[in-house]
Amino acid sequence: MTRHTESRSSRARSARPRLSHLSVSLVLAIVFLSTGFILWNTYTSTADEAQRVRADAEQLVDTLASSLEVPLWDLDRRNMYTICSHYLQNELVARIELKGITGEMYFGLSRGAASSEGKTLALTREISSHGELVGFLAVDCLVGREGDLFRRLAQPLTITVMIFVLTVVVLLLMRGRARIAHELAELNQQLEHKVELRTRELERSKDALEQANVSLLEMDKRKSTFLSSVAHELRTPMTSIYGFAKLITNDLDELLPFLEISDPKLKRKQDRLQVNLATIVGEGERLTRLINEVLDITKIESDDMQWNDQPTDMRDLLEHCVDVISGVFMTKDGVSLRSDLAPDLPVLTLDPDRLTQVFLNLLHNAAKFTDQGEVVLAARALDSGGLRASVADTGQGIPLQHLDKVFDRFHRTGPGDIMDEHFKGAGLGLAICRQIVGHYQGAVWAEPNPGGGAKLVVELPGDAERGIGSGA
Ligand SMILES: Nc1ncnc2c1ncn2[C@@H]1O[C@H](COP(=O)(O)OP(=O)(O)O)[C@@H](O)[C@H]1O
Ligand SMILES: [Mg+2]
Repeated sequence: MTRHTESRSSRARSARPRLSHLSVSLVLAIVFLSTGFILWNTYTSTADEAQRVRADAEQLVDTLASSLEVPLWDLDRRNMYTICSHYLQNELVARIELKGITGEMYFGLSRGAASSEGKTLALTREISSHGELVGFLAVDCLVGREGDLFRRLAQPLTITVMIFVLTVVVLLLMRGRARIAHELAELNQQLEHKVELRTRELERSKDALEQANVSLLEMDKRKSTFLSSVAHELRTPMTSIYGFAKLITNDLDELLPFLEISDPKLKRKQDRLQVNLATIVGEGERLTRLINEVLDITKIESDDMQWNDQPTDMRDLLEHCVDVISGVFMTKDGVSLRSDLAPDLPVLTLDPDRLTQVFLNLLHNAAKFTDQGEVVLAARALDSGGLRASVADTGQGIPLQHLDKVFDRFHRTGPGDIMDEHFKGAGLGLAICRQIVGHYQGAVWAEPNPGGGAKLVVELPGDAERGIGSGA
């Protein structure tokens, strides 16, 4: 199909110059034929006219001779002069001479400028009187027009040359235009071909991308399932390890006051035991939190999460969060926690455990990434019946280019090592917050805190906005 179109177009391309050659030859032939015709016509009409002029001259001289066929010597010179000058006025006559039989000059009259007027024809007639030859009449006739052939040809020739030049110019212009149009058409065709190729390429890459996307989604799903099963498998033994470590710590704390260990070696061992147990408890707690986070996010994403929605007083909820987190702030010298809660915070229908999880996550982050200054939990009611709450800190802040990315799973702005002592975490907390807040049609985002540090803002719609009638 494409080859067929291409051969047709190449035939059309080769036919086009042939056509223009044909038209050029045709026009040139017409020009040459018409030029030949004009020249021939001018030439023959000029020859005819020369013959006519000769005949006119002969007739004129005959008439003059016959008008003189009276005894010339009977006429006085004056009359002869009058007759001759009358004839001299004819544009053909250049000079008139009367000679005797022996050739003696009897009378002569000339125009003077005869020689400059071109070719002349010398005509001689015998003059008789009473049947007797008395002399000769010699007349120079101007038949110079015979030689005007080139002058007469000059005009049609000039016109023909001009027409010819004009035709050539017009043809050249037409040819140039035709060539440009032809080149443009060719370029257009090439462009169309390229676009067609590119479109096909794009379609192929689009298909490949779609396929890659499908397999990526599939892999992501499989990874989530794998993560979730690993987390499930880990949770039970982890709970045991963590629980027993805590139990042993408690037991040891209760027992130790009754054991009087004086041996310094044994005392050192006891101290080491306590430190190691504390490490097991601390790491156990961290791992349990990580496992719970993984389970949470996979549950929310696969829609398996149980949402125990109930009317929740947001002020109570936030105050509870402050109570829970205050222990963490007690261990941080130089960082204070302040709450700025408006008295009229709304009651919203939602799962209080999930929302507590959101605010504790934000407060934990604020504590984790702030070394000096304060963390402020603020909240106020919105006119729409919703809530706007924020956790602002004076810590290291979030770089602008990460403000939105921190809500992606496993995205962290700091060191990538999740076991980093200073910034412990897996990068799942904010992703879970966004999923929970999104479930209630709210929004959570990060912005720079005007006083330095980061500010995480949560906005939740009122019950009426979410179409829940029994709100507040
Ligand atoms: N208050 C904050 N100040 C500075 N950086 C923050 C703050 N909150 C979150 N971040 C950044 O966002 C990343 C993601 O946070 P999060 O999802 O809670 O994961 P994690 O706390 O486990 O690292 C953090 O690692 C940190 O880089
Ligand atoms: Mg966190």
